[in-house]
Amino acid sequence: MPTAAGLHLSEKQFAELRKIVYDRAGIHFQDTKKYVLESRLARRLEELEFDDFDQYLMFLTAGPYQTEEFQEMFNRITINETSFFRNEPQLDVFEQRILPELLEKRSATKRLRIWSAACSSGEEPYTLAMQIHRSLGVRLADWKIEILGTDISEKVLNQATNGVYPRYAVRSVCPMVLKQYFKEENGQYLLDPEIQSMVHFEVLNLKDRFAAKRFGTWDVIFCRNVMIYFDDAMKTACAKLYHDQLADDGTLFIGHSETLRNLDVAFEQIDIPQAFAYRKAIN
Ligand SMILES: C[S@@+](CC[C@H](N)C(=O)[O-])C[C@H]1O[C@@H](n2cnc3c(N)ncnc32)[C@H](O)[C@@H]1O
Repeated sequence: MPTAAGLHLSEKQFAELRKIVYDRAGIHFQDTKKYVLESRLARRLEELEFDDFDQYLMFLTAGPYQTEEFQEMFNRITINETSFFRNEPQLDVFEQRILPELLEKRSATKRLRIWSAACSSGEEPYTLAMQIHRSLGVRLADWKIEILGTDISEKVLNQATNGVYPRYAVRSVCPMVLKQYFKEENGQYLLDPEIQSMVHFEVLNLKDRFAAKRFGTWDVIFCRNVMIYFDDAMKTACAKLYHDQLADDGTLFIGHSETLRNLDVAFEQIDIPQAFAYRKAIN
């Protein structure tokens, strides 16, 4: 169906566009999702004063502004749904089981590295920062904690860096935590600067394994609710990347509707209900 502006994405244009998106980012748009690309990019075509998607495809693939336009496109076509303390039972496993073990194991170096891959507007890595902050208390000063949030969309990472959130983002945060780590101002929630300073953000496309490798090895990787947009080949590539970048005694957390089963990667699931977590398999 044409958009309000009368822009129509034909089947041929859809096939071309979704191949470009897949090749670049591994995001697989199913046949039924043509309207998503059509409606989300229509405004962009209007801004560029293009009459049809052929012009846009040409601009995207042959023009001098390809790199910038890919970023612009991913800002618009990605689904960025997230919230603070999303899937709390899983986060309880992190805080009460995995984190204390890790703090014990790293007590000599006092160094902990956590990667939130595909973090959207930052709610996930900031949640982890709050959990670490309250777990360590005054001991935090003795530790070097690195938390990195990455995403393909620059737009959501700018929101993350601002640290200002609408009520919707904090809907699952209990009143005590809300009071401790946020300041309400005109219906917006401003994150505590100390928690903000614990997290660093970078644009990173999970398809680009070499870019991911430059960040080194992680004790914990959270990669939740992004593999649902990938096909098996891209899921496998991601799982291999996490395997390479995870410490031998590290933990990988994935989304509750995701699985690594049937993928050819040496991970074994941790046997804790609600954890949706994996460790490297020991041969
Ligand atoms: C639904 S959000 C998940 C946010 C958070 N992890 C959570 O579970 O609440 C999915 C995020 O994945 C990002 N994404 C999609 N494809 C990506 C890719 N190839 N590389 C990096 N991030 C990607 C999107 O921009 C989006 O912000």
